[in-house]
Amino acid sequence: SKKIQLTEDTSLPAPTKAKILHLTPLRSKRVRVRGWVHRLRDQKGIIFIVLRDGTGYLQCVLSGVAAKTYEALTLTMESTVELTGTLQPVPEGKTAPGGHELTVDYWKVLGAAPGADDAFTNRLNEKSDPSILADLRHLVIRGETASSVLRLRAAMLSAFRESYAAHSLTEVTPPCMVQTQVEGGATLFKFDYYGQPAFLTQSSQLYLETCLPALGDVFCVQESFRAENSHTRRHLSEYTHLEAELGFIDFNDLMTHIEAIICETVDRLLANPSTAALIKSLNPSFTAPARPFLRLSYVDAIKWLNEHKILHPKEDADGNEVKDAEGNLIMVEHAVGDDIAEAAERQMTDIIGTPVFLYGFPKELKAFYMKRMDSAEVDGHVFTESCDLLMPGVGEIVGGSMRISDSDELIAAYKREGIDPSPYYWYTDQRKYGTCEHGGYGLGVERLLAWLANRYTVRECSLYPRWPGRATP
Ligand code: 4AD
Repeated sequence: SKKIQLTEDTSLPAPTKAKILHLTPLRSKRVRVRGWVHRLRDQKGIIFIVLRDGTGYLQCVLSGVAAKTYEALTLTMESTVELTGTLQPVPEGKTAPGGHELTVDYWKVLGAAPGADDAFTNRLNEKSDPSILADLRHLVIRGETASSVLRLRAAMLSAFRESYAAHSLTEVTPPCMVQTQVEGGATLFKFDYYGQPAFLTQSSQLYLETCLPALGDVFCVQESFRAENSHTRRHLSEYTHLEAELGFIDFNDLMTHIEAIICETVDRLLANPSTAALIKSLNPSFTAPARPFLRLSYVDAIKWLNEHKILHPKEDADGNEVKDAEGNLIMVEHAVGDDIAEAAERQMTDIIGTPVFLYGFPKELKAFYMKRMDSAEVDGHVFTESCDLLMPGVGEIVGGSMRISDSDELIAAYKREGIDPSPYYWYTDQRKYGTCEHGGYGLGVERLLAWLANRYTVRECSLYPRWPGRATP
């Protein structure tokens, strides 16, 4: 039989090319849109396409000859198409994205996606196991949920930048390839740098500190890398680290600042109707947290855990978990000096149900650069001006502290931690040439997003997440 051909009626008004987001002022006009076939339905010879162009979704209706061509009959999901027609408000009682639909008079396929076994929906169905979905992340991100999370991530980063600007912090871009550690040698990715040892950065903190005398208070949005063999739902091997450093502040100022930046950023997101809608769709019960955040000292947190019968696995002197004769973990009460592990921390935050600052961690649990707290020893432990911000459902999202400001004290700290001070000469110089009391923090962008968007794991909050064994795609 003769192929049915669709030709463009040249007597029609010339179409306006537009992105879906900008269509509303073009209602009743002839428009031309391009994008991917997000959804496809054939109903009694009328083809309904939901078109996706990255700015939104648009319902498009093909009827008559437009729905009878070979291209129409063989159209597949995720093909790219160009559609031309008249934009009309949806009929009374019907709904469609944007409140309008395109009555198509002319269209063409720009890039056909395969059908049959290789069809998009076959490769990517919801029953796919997690490792297949991880391999297909490049296709997963086309989905409504995954793309909403990524869109919210972008909005969140812009809102953070606005909040920092309002607090007069300047953005800098520190290097990723470094020759110093920040958070301990155990989690460093090492590599050969023109014959010299180098690492992927764990934190930009030390660089931010050197910027204080140059630029004043600073922040950065930079990737950090952790060679942690942690297969948890909140650990990545590469994550986006939002870090800030402030000069001439005290510990109380630091916590107040962290709280202000987070709350103002959330307020900005909620004040923007499209971002507020995005949050609502991903996390319907989200409400902005109340200020001020609860502040709980580490010593009080240990008491709290014991009062709430939250135990932790007993460890031997080498830090290995101890098991009983039946092979079960032996659970014991927390004592001052214990690290509050992820499980206990999670239970605590979930019971408390609001953001909480845990502060004043024992010196031996924390990094070399942290300033000692002016408080009494407990069971022989001294404490630091350090804080973690914990969020319900996620746990720790921020780690911060005041830094040692005295060069002799810093040199003693290198020694105590067994760190060779020579590669840190530039960091030490910051104390030598006009020191100041200062502090800062790092916020895990994927963790904050997991809280905001109510995602089960940080893996959903990264464009292409990396975790042990996974660096593809
Ligand atoms: O607590 P951390 O290790 O602190 C630092 O790196 C400081 N030097 C930051 C600073 O003061 N400038 O990490 C800070 C935050 C954590 O609270 C967590 O949100 C996130 O970084 N984070 C991770 N996120 C995902 N995957 C990992 N493996 C992470 N490790 C830390």
